[in-house]
This record gives sequence, structure tokens and C-alpha cells, in this order.
Amino acid sequence: MSEAAHDIRKAAELLRQGRLVAFPTETVYGLGADAFNEGAVRAVFEIKGRPPINPLIVHVSGPEMARRVVADWPDRADALAREFWPGPLTIVLPRASARSRLPAIITAGGPNVAVRCPDHPVALALLFEFGGPLVGPSANPSGTVSPTTAAHVRAGFPGPEVFVLDGGACRGGIESTVLSLAGDVPRILRPGLVSAVEIERVLGERVELGGEVAGATDAPMESPGLLARHYAPRTPARLFESREWPDVLEEEGGGRAVVILIGHREVPAPHVLLAMPMRAEDYAARLYASLREADAAGAERILIERPPEDSALWEAIADRLLRATAD
Ligand code: TXA
Ligand code: MG
Repeated sequence: MSEAAHDIRKAAELLRQGRLVAFPTETVYGLGADAFNEGAVRAVFEIKGRPPINPLIVHVSGPEMARRVVADWPDRADALAREFWPGPLTIVLPRASARSRLPAIITAGGPNVAVRCPDHPVALALLFEFGGPLVGPSANPSGTVSPTTAAHVRAGFPGPEVFVLDGGACRGGIESTVLSLAGDVPRILRPGLVSAVEIERVLGERVELGGEVAGATDAPMESPGLLARHYAPRTPARLFESREWPDVLEEEGGGRAVVILIGHREVPAPHVLLAMPMRAEDYAARLYASLREADAAGAERILIERPPEDSALWEAIADRLLRATAD
């Protein structure tokens, strides 16, 4: 047996014992536990320091496994799964009844459950080997930057409680789109790699934006409370407009800054440049690793050039940047 196959066997065995296994997905690493084992699910909330009001995504190998945790698998979900699964689309549906084995804490006591089938060979192999649904929030302490490498996971959870499956760097880089099909109108609760337009094309109906979405424009937000600080580095970070460059370096007075720019430009010492790719896909894949690097540079502040918002993926990126820089 190859080392990879051996690790997946071992991981599945640990999951059966109620232990925690971090696994790679195409978006970010997830912190896995048996979704039907309440003790294991509680351990996920505890080790992440996740508030119990924030429900967990359930990872499944496909629609068949999803049916074990939802009340009903509607045609809309089936159409979306056929188009986007395995892939970065999480679907929220009414949960299986209270008599099912699904612990209430997964849904934070609420009526709905979020399911997604990850597009990563290691995650899929683990789901097939384990044979059941796995909770999988991002594998980081709550409120910190999501992990896109196994080393990031170990930095957050250095102890023996979490077994880490190493699948290299995640290619997507930001978390899945969360779409609620629990109401009359489909609603995006978190923007991500699958856009509203793509979803509308498959469903043939309008999709609303709302819920967790942070306003990515200069307009005042409907609900500032939605812009919870999240996905955040420890160093104070702020966004600036391209036209503010390079004045932004002086604006707040001294202090060494890490500057995250789109593309390469001269940055005067002692400030440090982190040059980001110009393509949205590449920017997303680099984003969380760059925020970690910026944090590790020991600067007084992180200054991030606000990206364009002319595509759905750039908007999803802007959503993460707003959360990373919220007070
Ligand atoms: O890409 C991803 O989705 C990653 C990988 C590991 O799959 N997972 C992830 O999980 O980002 P987490 O727990 O960090 O984020 C889950 C998001 C949260 O915003 C949560 O509030 C929302 O999904 N969510 C989970 N269950 C929900 C539910 N029943 N109703 C509404 N929103 C829900
Ligand atoms: Mg998370």
C-alpha cells in the first residue's frame, strides 16, 4: 500500500474512534470529524474556539450521502450538484429530522444543514474510505486566517489532537460559495468560487445576495454587523485604493508596513512588498498564505491594495479582504 493510501486508512480509523482529522480540499483545509458522533463534533467546536451559534458544513461524497443529513433533496439541489459537485459550492437545506442521528450542534440548533462535496482526491478518498458524512469547518482557530497548506493547519493546531492529511497547497484558496435553498428564493450567504451568475444559469431563476455577505463597495452597508472580523491576521491591516499609492505610506505616520500590492512596484525601505498575481484565480490561491506571510514579517501594519471588483471572483476576494481588515 502506498503511503498516501495508508494515511487515508489510518485517518478513517481515527474518525471512527471519534478523533479529528484535517484534510485538504480544493478551497482550504477542513477539520474533519464524524458528523454522526456528537462528542467528536463538540471537540471540533472546542478546539477551534468556535462559537456554538456558528453551524458547521457537512462534507459528503455526493448527493447520495447528502440525503442522509437533509430532510429532502430537491430538484434544484440535484441540478446544482450535477453541475458543480464535486466543487466549491455549499448547499443549505432543511436538515434531517430530529430523530435522525445528526447532532443539533452541527446546525447550531437551527432547522437547516449545509452540505458540500469537495473536489480533492484526498478529501474524496477519505469520504469513501470512512463511508459517511464529515463535518469540515476550515482547519484553523476561529477568527484566524484559513489554512491553505498542511503547515498552516499544524501552526494552528500543533498538538496530537489533530491528525493532518497533507495534500499540498489548496488550488482555490478561498472558501466555498454558500447557497441557501432553504427559503423560497435561492440566496448566497457567502460569496466564493462559484458565482451567482453561474448558479442562476443552472437554476434558471434569480439568486439573491445576502446573509453573511459583506458589502464590497464604498456604499454604507445595510448591516455593519455582517462584517464580522474574520479570516484576519493579527497585525492591524487596512485596505487602500490604488490611487492612494504611495501616499498611504506616509498618511498614518511612521511604522514599518508590509504592503500587499497587485503586481510589482517599488516600495521604499523599510517597508516590505508582497506582490500579488493580477489574475483573480491566482490572487485567491495566494491570498491566505500572503496574509500569513505579512503577519510573520513582524511589521506594525499591513496595507492592502483594494483589488478591482469587476468579476464575481474579485468580489468574493473583496469580501474576504473586508473581513480581514474589519476593526
Ligand atoms: O470551502 C469551504 O467551505 C471550507 C472547506 C473546508 O470545505 N469550509 C468552511 O467551513 O469554510 P466554515 O465552517 O469555516 O464555514 C462554513 C460557513 C460559515 O459561514 C457558516 O456560517 C455557514 O457556512 N453555514 C454552515 N452551516 C450553515 C447552515 N446550516 N445555515 C447557514 N449557514 C451555514
Ligand atoms: Mg472558517
